[in-house]
Amino acid sequence: MKTQVAIIGAGPSGLLLGHLLRRQGIGCVVIERQSPDYVLSRIRAGVLETVTTDLMEQLGIDARMHAEGLIEEGFNLADGDRLIRIDITALTGKHVTVYGQTELTRDLMAAAPERGLEIVYEAKDVAIHGVEGDSPSVTYAIDGVEHRIEADFIAGCDGFHGPSRKAIPAPLVREFERVYPFGWLGILADVPPCHHELIYANGPRGFALASMRSNTRSRYYIQVPLTDTLDQWPEERLWDELALRFDPISEKGVTRGPALEMSIAPLRSFVFETMRHGRLFLAGDSAHIVPPTGAKGLNLAASDVAYLAEALAGHYRDGSEAGLAGYEARALARIWKAERFSWYLTKLMHRFPEDGSFEHRMQSAEIDYVASSTAMQKVIAENYVGLPL
Ligand code: FAD
Ligand code: DHB
Repeated sequence: MKTQVAIIGAGPSGLLLGHLLRRQGIGCVVIERQSPDYVLSRIRAGVLETVTTDLMEQLGIDARMHAEGLIEEGFNLADGDRLIRIDITALTGKHVTVYGQTELTRDLMAAAPERGLEIVYEAKDVAIHGVEGDSPSVTYAIDGVEHRIEADFIAGCDGFHGPSRKAIPAPLVREFERVYPFGWLGILADVPPCHHELIYANGPRGFALASMRSNTRSRYYIQVPLTDTLDQWPEERLWDELALRFDPISEKGVTRGPALEMSIAPLRSFVFETMRHGRLFLAGDSAHIVPPTGAKGLNLAASDVAYLAEALAGHYRDGSEAGLAGYEARALARIWKAERFSWYLTKLMHRFPEDGSFEHRMQSAEIDYVASSTAMQKVIAENYVGLPL
C-alpha cells in the first residue's frame, strides 16, 4: 500500500494529525497496535485547553464536546484547609473544558470513516524503515501476515513506549528527564463531584486532586509512593483518604460509589531532542512527557500535531520545506514552557519524601503568596489555560 503520511499510533496525537491532514486532502493511514476498545479503555486526561478545543472546532468534530463538555472558568489550589481560587476567565479571558480524553478519542475515531481516514487496528510488530532516504515505509503484521505501507513521511505518534523514538540513532539525540518519587492513584466513579471546580490540594498527607468528567461522574487522584500497588488500595481505603482531604474544603464533600476504573501512573518530566530524523517526525508523548499536575500532556500533543500538519500541508501545497525544517524548534518552544509549568505545579503541590519542614514552609509561603498576588495568579492562570500556538 502507498500513502503520503504513515501515522503510527491512534491516541489523541495520531488521530488529530490524521484528521488535520485529511482536511487538507493529504493521504494518510494510522497504524495502531491495540484494538479500538482497548484504546478507549485508557482513562487519562480530562482538561482541554482552547488550543485543543479550537482544533476540534476547525475539524467540525466538536458537537458532542460542546454539548457534554463542562466549561471551567476557574480552579482551586488548596494548602491544608485553605482554598485559593484561580479565576482563569477574569485573569485571562479564557476557560478550559472538562471533556475526557476517552470521549475526544471516541469522537475522532467515529468521524474517521466519513473523512477517509483509514485506521489499521491490532497491528503487531510495527517497524519503521528507510527514514534517512526518500522512500520510508512501515511494516506490521495482522494475524501473522506482514504488510508494508510506503509513504513520503512517517509521523511517530505512538506514545512514550512506542517504536518511533527508538528508531532515531542515539548519537543524534539528547534526552532530558526527571522522574518523581511518587505516582498518582486515580479513581473514576459515577458520583457527583465534591466541588463544581477542580481542586489541586497539598496537605500533610500529600497531594490530592478532585476532578470530574460530568456533573454525575467524578475523577480523583492522590499521591502514592512508587512502591504502592492497587491491591494495597481497596476502594474504601481510597474513599476514606479522599474524604479526609476534600470533606473540609469542598462544597459538597466526597460522595462514594463503585469504581469504574482505578490505576496508578508514575510521574515523569521528559523531553527528547530531536523530534525529526530524516522523514520521521515525532509528536505527542513519543517525544515528551509532563507530570499530569498541569493537565498539559494531551494539549501538548494537540499543539505538536497542529504545527506538524501545517508544515506537511505547506510541503504538499507549494513544495516548501521551511515548515518541516522549522517544526522541531516551533514545537519545542511550547513544549519546554509546558514542561516548566508542569514541573513547577508538581513541586508546589506534592510532598517529596526528601523534603523537610523548611521545604513545607516554602511551599506554604508560595501558596500564600499566590493567594495574595493577582500577578502570581495571572501567571498560573495563563499557563493553565495554555500558551498561544
Ligand atoms: P498516547 O495517548 O500514548 O497514544 C499513543 C498510541 O500509540 C496508543 O494508542 C498506543 O497503543 C499506540 N502505540 C504504542 N506502541 C505502538 C506500536 N508499537 N505500534 C502501533 N501503535 C503503538 N493530559 C492533559 O492534557 N490533560 C490532563 O488532564 C491529563 N491528565 C492525565 C492523567 C493521567 C493519569 C495520565 C496518565 C495522563 C494524563 N495526561 C493529561 C496526559 C495525556 O493522557 C497524554 O499526554 C496523551 O495521551 C498523549 O497522547 P499521544 O497520542 O501522544 O500518546
Ligand atoms: C485530570 C487530570 C489531570 O492531570 C489534571 O491536571 C486535571 C484533571 C483529570 O483526569 O480529570
